[in-house]
Amino acid sequence: MLDIKPMTGAIGAEILGLDLKASISVDLAKALRHALMDHQVIVFRDQHLDIAAQKRLTRVFGSILRLPYVEPMAEDPEVIAVLKEASEAKVGVFGGEWHSDFSFLETPPAGSVLNAVDVPEVGGDTVWANQVLAYETLPDELRQTVDAHDAIHVGKPYGAKYAPPAKHRASNSIRMTRGDPNADIERRHPAALPHPRAGRKALFVNPIYTTRLNGMTDEASAPILEALYKHSIRPEFCCRLRWRPGDVAVWDNRLAMHCAVNDYDGARRLLYRTTFSDTPD
Ligand code: SIN
Repeated sequence: MLDIKPMTGAIGAEILGLDLKASISVDLAKALRHALMDHQVIVFRDQHLDIAAQKRLTRVFGSILRLPYVEPMAEDPEVIAVLKEASEAKVGVFGGEWHSDFSFLETPPAGSVLNAVDVPEVGGDTVWANQVLAYETLPDELRQTVDAHDAIHVGKPYGAKYAPPAKHRASNSIRMTRGDPNADIERRHPAALPHPRAGRKALFVNPIYTTRLNGMTDEASAPILEALYKHSIRPEFCCRLRWRPGDVAVWDNRLAMHCAVNDYDGARRLLYRTTFSDTPD
């Protein structure tokens, strides 16, 4: 039913020939959910969706979630404007390190939608890495360690390891808040997370929010986590999206990690982001 063009041998697919401004039938919605599970990241070119259409698309995949720490758009509390202005140089960007979104929540989000409004001529790509493949190709000993442990995640701003030092200037264009009691606490998730529908496990640790393996000290965990991080983003697990205005990407947050490439000082980049909880089938 769908015209699908894989982006790489491992992850990501463009879905061709759809206009997401038109209504999405029950059958089409089901096919899109299946495509997301099969490819982990699906991309629709040249859509130019308004917020209402983006939210309609998001609800195909699950219920829209409100997020801790990030101030949403004044016009709509369910949407985040991921923005770096052309005037902002040498600042961090939202999602600029490899991560699974909000992995410190009791139930991490099922996925997200990014809708490109304004993107640099060059740079500002997003990269995703297939964590099912990462898990399945771990050396035996490392996979046994992963299978035997939960990992501890914390949001407390914003994950122990990468908490920006006070004098580090983050982008002024995305406002982060602090002190969310629901997110500041530690949470445990299996380091190899079974996906509720894909029926496969994915490596679920990330350098922003994971502090240690359960039952180990930070020091004992550190070399294991470093080895996992290095393995998890091998180029053959990744796809990279060169954004054009109007593009829309949807990804599964439990199957793939992602990272926003911050290489476009001097250009404006604005994408609207919605996040969803678990998919209906
Ligand atoms: C994010 O959701 O982590 C940001 C991704 C991006 O801006 O490319």
